[in-house]
Amino acid sequence: MTQINVRVDGASYSDDVEPRTLLVHYLREQLGKVGTVVGCDTSNCGACTVHLDGEAVKSCTVFAVQADGSEVTTIEGISQNGTLHPMQKAFHEMHGLQCGFCTPGMIMASIDLVNDNPSPSEDEVREGIEGNLCRCTGYQNIVRAVQQAAAEMNGGASATSPAAVDTAAAPHVAVQS
Ligand code: FES
Ligand code: FES
Repeated sequence: MTQINVRVDGASYSDDVEPRTLLVHYLREQLGKVGTVVGCDTSNCGACTVHLDGEAVKSCTVFAVQADGSEVTTIEGISQNGTLHPMQKAFHEMHGLQCGFCTPGMIMASIDLVNDNPSPSEDEVREGIEGNLCRCTGYQNIVRAVQQAAAEMNGGASATSPAAVDTAAAPHVAVQS
């Protein structure tokens, strides 16, 4: 066992882990952060994405010991005092999810994308989230959600206005005027 000291979602933890323990398993099984999910065993799906010192990483590709001394943020740590993060809000409003399994990782990857590129074009969003797979939505409303969130995260000054929600892809969604 190896002791690690890590901050996760603003709280400090000191734990013993096996050197082979993956960060995602540490988060879920030792800390109970089950909002971060495992969607594959091939490092392909991105469902496990968290931020490690501010950068999006697939937490199934990182050992817990590599997070020693670091700051980890999961999907459970991005809302503030019960207020959704703009990316969470946009995924909700633009119907950027269906089953929701990919959503925690998709949101964490998208926040990192917008932090690096405050006003991404549709192509840049698609390229930025290419490491995150969704088998439900067809991605259209995910792209729109990311662009809407980008506008809000940057004070509404997005150079690329997101298109309206695709009601053909999500027929039960009310169109907002
Ligand atoms: S669980 Fe699929 S990439 Fe991590
Ligand atoms: S919403 Fe089901 S996998 Fe993306």
